[in-house]
Amino acid sequence: MEIQLIETMSAAEKLYEGKAKIVYHTEDTEIHRIVFKDSATAFNGSLMGKIEGKGEINCTISAALFECLSSIGIPTHYISRPQKNQMRVRAVKIIPLEVVVRNIAAGSLVHQTGLPEGKVLQSPLVEFYLKNDSLSDPLLTRDRLLLLDLTSPERLEQIEKMARNINQYLTDFFQRCRIILVDFKLEFGLDSQARLLLADEISPDTCRLWDATTTDPQERIMDKDRFRRNLPQVESAYQEVFERVLAQNKIGDISP
Ligand code: TMP
Repeated sequence: MEIQLIETMSAAEKLYEGKAKIVYHTEDTEIHRIVFKDSATAFNGSLMGKIEGKGEINCTISAALFECLSSIGIPTHYISRPQKNQMRVRAVKIIPLEVVVRNIAAGSLVHQTGLPEGKVLQSPLVEFYLKNDSLSDPLLTRDRLLLLDLTSPERLEQIEKMARNINQYLTDFFQRCRIILVDFKLEFGLDSQARLLLADEISPDTCRLWDATTTDPQERIMDKDRFRRNLPQVESAYQEVFERVLAQNKIGDISP
């Protein structure tokens, strides 16, 4: 069964290969298959490496979170998880925006504004970055975003509202896992009927997650910042997030 699947996969036409995932066409034009890779990059690909087991962990965490979000009415691209590191998803055209939601100052917000790392923001900040590696994903103003015709003002409002709802749900969810959701990045896409769907992934690659059980500024990091900063125990941090998420939300085994 597994061999057959792998053969089908290698024959399938690759739609897109990114730094952490490969998207394949399937026999159904409305459905894509995403393979999550162990490879990791940072700083726009200038730091490259591998996080053993990351493909399975990120795929499984994302699947669990997409299931939760869809149960509260957030439409997502997720359909099923036929292999531990593979997802069947609704085919979407990705809107070239990285939607970042921040609850606590960290990362580029700290570097660009001088706010102290760890400062709790009065209300969540929603930011839009252009998804374009050759331009290094610049931060956009609302006017620039509309100037580039990336989406309509109405759609933008819908995206922001959805991002804030997702943040509320995920902040509570991770709190139950004894994890602080510092910030995260979302991507959205449009399906063949121009329906807006949450797409891509939600995982330790795309979130800043701090262990609420310690205040040590290095020890608490449970996400890709360990890799970005060359800290030890990257794999075990991803594994710990995986275990806490699954303990909170029992996701079904793989299914076609
Ligand atoms: P930043 O502080 O570097 O702007 O990152 C904000 C959030 O977005 C953080 O949770 C990590 C995530 N992120 C990605 O998922 N992909 C990226 O390419 C970058 C730069 C950040």
